Amino acid sequence: MYTCQKADEYIEKNRVDRADKPEFHLTTPVGWLNDPNGFSIYGGKAHLFYQFHPYSTEWGPMHWGHSTSDDFIRWEELPTALAPDSDYDAFGCFSGTAIENDGKQVLFYTGVVEEKLADGTKNVIQNQCMAVGDGISYEKISSNPVVDGKIMPEDCSRVDFRDPKVWKDEDGRYYMLTGNRTYDGIPQVVLFSSDDMYNWKFESVFAKDETGRFGVVWECPDYFEMDGHKLLIVSPQDMSADGEFHNGNNVVFFIGDVDEENHIFKYEKAVSVDSGFDFYAPQTIRTPDGRRVMIGWMQSWDSVNTLPRGQKWACMMSVPRELMISDGKLIQTPVRELCGYRQNKLVVNDTLRGEKTYEGINGRVIDMTVDIKKADCGHFTMHFAKDEIHETNVSYTPGTQMLEIDRTFAGWIRDTNCVRKVKIKNGNGLSKMRIVMDWNSIEIFVNDGEQVLSTVIYTPRNAQDIVFETDGCVELEVEKYDLNI
Ligand code: FRU
Repeated sequence: MYTCQKADEYIEKNRVDRADKPEFHLTTPVGWLNDPNGFSIYGGKAHLFYQFHPYSTEWGPMHWGHSTSDDFIRWEELPTALAPDSDYDAFGCFSGTAIENDGKQVLFYTGVVEEKLADGTKNVIQNQCMAVGDGISYEKISSNPVVDGKIMPEDCSRVDFRDPKVWKDEDGRYYMLTGNRTYDGIPQVVLFSSDDMYNWKFESVFAKDETGRFGVVWECPDYFEMDGHKLLIVSPQDMSADGEFHNGNNVVFFIGDVDEENHIFKYEKAVSVDSGFDFYAPQTIRTPDGRRVMIGWMQSWDSVNTLPRGQKWACMMSVPRELMISDGKLIQTPVRELCGYRQNKLVVNDTLRGEKTYEGINGRVIDMTVDIKKADCGHFTMHFAKDEIHETNVSYTPGTQMLEIDRTFAGWIRDTNCVRKVKIKNGNGLSKMRIVMDWNSIEIFVNDGEQVLSTVIYTPRNAQDIVFETDGCVELEVEKYDLNI
């Protein structure tokens, strides 16, 4: 039997030393982490729950871990918030939302159970459940599940029916959007409404894709308005690469409009949120000062079993990002609070020919911006986290306007996908890159956040060099800070 208390006792005995983990990318105290859950502001702090399996570095019966922060960068560990301890969630407490109501913090999550079918076989069933708490501990309500999949139209899958996003709308009612598919494989999100959070009715199939472009199941929906646009974020499984998106699980940002009467979202534009290897299942919040901040799981489901031997924590969150829409384009930048941790500013202006290192431009926990003023070359490459054996290369080819990450030598022990190429979208090529590195990650914000590429690395910590290299001539300015968290 799993309980929060049992999890916390296990954590107490097995907690991983902070020095063996990333500095500011949220990880578990020990064990496995996937999606961010319940990202919210409550009691004056940012709360971040997450899919959590304390007992191993692999996915298992899902708990909700819990942390809070004053600035999205330094996280404080709280007790385990949910454990799969009830008959309606015995197979796991899957992803969901936190929302404030009457001074309480209310969690909505997916309760997963196994059901015996008439023919004797077993089936996974997912329903939406609720727990109420004070910001530290939570009690599941006695009438769970609050949304039973049986209230959906018959063609909506009850096997893939998860990840409730709940919000209170301007009309005073509560809405819940959950990931879903039809039994014949059309990915969709379904909408429910309620006057009191406890009694829900089915409203609509809010959005779906019948073209086959956007995978087979939509997970982890988020929906909000920003800069005058209606936005739907989903995490589809099983997509095929098409120039904008890569193979496998992606995160899709739909910009669109809503038929308010029928509760139907129509998209006008679909953009990839992260063109790197590792970003999935994000959630967003609106901060008290009016920003839209997003955090995602910095991992790909296709490369999860690749930890270096002996590592006792698995997976981390991305750096939280501020979102904006400008000229119809999605812009993402690291939360501004990160700049508060910058130290040791170094600026280098150079005309690069051949291969070079610059004194002080190195390290693994850094925030660095590279301004490319002119690139007369076949390629311009930066080698990060480098020693004699290791490196992760970021290479730009002006002739094709392609940017490539190659993490082949980043310390993998499995034959993981290591090369990704993306086209710079703006038509004018690469002019700027902001590179945020923590011990186990590199996040690249291209051209002031018009594109982002995230990757996990498992490179030994003493690989600290950064080498700049070109076959022609590149005029550049580098501004580099250490991050001291
Ligand atoms: C997405 C996801 C969710 C689910 C959770 C389970 O990564 O598959 O749909 O709630 O992970 O851990």
